[in-house]
Amino acid sequence: MSMMDQDILKVLYTQEEIAARVKELGDQMYKDFKGKNPLFVSVLRGAFIFMADIVRACQVKSDVEFIAVSSYGNATRSSGAVQITHDIQQDISGRNLVVIEDILDSGNTLSFLKQYFLTKGAASVSICTLLDKPSRRTKVITADYIGFTVPDEFVVGYGLDYCQKYRNLPYIGVLKPEVYSGE
Ligand code: PRP
Repeated sequence: MSMMDQDILKVLYTQEEIAARVKELGDQMYKDFKGKNPLFVSVLRGAFIFMADIVRACQVKSDVEFIAVSSYGNATRSSGAVQITHDIQQDISGRNLVVIEDILDSGNTLSFLKQYFLTKGAASVSICTLLDKPSRRTKVITADYIGFTVPDEFVVGYGLDYCQKYRNLPYIGVLKPEVYSGE
């Protein structure tokens, strides 16, 4: 048991359960994108681990890009303002994009990005999120591919952080309240 494991209240999805679901999503996207030369766009930082696994689970001829958006505190989060801090490096006009996210929460990030990519001329923008938290949604947006639908709990691991930590846990777990209480 690692120091990080001690901060976890319960495991939601084990490493094996995640791998099995990633394989299913990869197979599904293979059928949908075979021959369509998709461009997988990962939203940094949280999606970097899911991205690495999903592109290997989906063996279509494709390429990858990375985009970073401002991570905002709770106060600005409610404003819905999203800023790009690192943009993709190529012309996406006419391309079929698949945006890879770790979690779809309020929907601010993905509704902004979807519109942004369409404005830049993408032929299509699909969304693949590992976790979906529909109870928190404030924007009208749904993902095309969803790993797991989760309740409104503080989840970490497999890319998801608390104060930039726990991203490297191989499973997804719920953080003990005492770890973040007192904020
Ligand atoms: C998280 C997550 C999504 C976004 C989802 O990113 O990775 O990008 O929030 O929330 P939303 O649906 O309410 O927009 P965060 O800002 O925590 O940065 P990170 O990816 O670096 O962890």
